[in-house]
Amino acid sequence: MLAPSETEQHQQVSSQLLHWIDQFKEATSQGKCADYIPALGNMNPHQLGVTVIGTDGTMITAGDCEAPFTLQSISKVLSLVAVCIEYGIPHVLQRVDAEPTGDAFNSIIRLEMSKPGRPYNPMINAGAITVSSMLAGDSVAQKMSSLNKLFIQLIGTAPVLNEEVFESEWNTAHRNRALAYYLKDIGFLDGDVEGALEVYLKQCALEVTTKDTALIGLILALDGYHPIRQEQVIPKDVARFTKSLMLTCGMYNASGKFAAFVGVPTKSGVSGGILSAVPPRYRSRDLPFADGCGIGIFSPSIDEVGNSVAGSLLLKEMAQQWDLSIF
Ligand code: DON
Repeated sequence: MLAPSETEQHQQVSSQLLHWIDQFKEATSQGKCADYIPALGNMNPHQLGVTVIGTDGTMITAGDCEAPFTLQSISKVLSLVAVCIEYGIPHVLQRVDAEPTGDAFNSIIRLEMSKPGRPYNPMINAGAITVSSMLAGDSVAQKMSSLNKLFIQLIGTAPVLNEEVFESEWNTAHRNRALAYYLKDIGFLDGDVEGALEVYLKQCALEVTTKDTALIGLILALDGYHPIRQEQVIPKDVARFTKSLMLTCGMYNASGKFAAFVGVPTKSGVSGGILSAVPPRYRSRDLPFADGCGIGIFSPSIDEVGNSVAGSLLLKEMAQQWDLSIF
């Protein structure tokens, strides 16, 4: 069962997290909410919350840990897992590569610069739209239901679609629409273009809290094993493939520095969510969560790259203090 823990070490971790939330809350006034999606521009930028879940199911939370937010690009992790389970990694790699770009997440340039134009990775918009078009099913509803099946395996429930955020992005998704039509033209989008775009934007508008993203992070940290259900819910090779892409491409054109200074497979989204998968660290036995953990952070004010400002600072502090780096 997920339950707040009462042990002494967990009390300490809990007050540490509260302290860091206090410390980094100021940074929420740097950056701004992602107003290129009008509905996200209305969020309260000063929220900051975190959930950490350990391998024994212990959950420690602080700040705005239960504030709902839309997954945005964090959903790219889930759609990638779903298509890899459905078709296997080699087939997915024929449709989308696994190389970092160093470009903005919504960049279009490399599709035409390289031949045949296969998107560089599934964590940028181009690759994620291709992946969404591959989800099992013949209609938008069927594709969303195959993604929801995965969510039910992982967090026990299908997230609710935030209709306002979806509509808001659907009506302003000119660049994503351009990407999708271009992908169709060069043969990297399956089926109907508007349908694929609808699936992609709907997966981005699924609503979660940091408790959900922390649990998904934990399962990935454990190579796909669900420690509470005691069941392998994602094949090990798929979990590892996904984490490697989170590490190399998950923070967009800040991924290199993130690997260097945080060192944890992590995926962000423009609504301010951050999901991290921390594997076991055998040389840090006396530090919190040495057996690994999942971390979910939310703080909606983002930097120019698209990563949460206060959330990134909080994660960096946790990684340094608790020795979370995989390197
Ligand atoms: O497609 C978009 O632009 C958004 N729905 C998601 C982008 C995103 O979250 C990139 N994140 N850092």
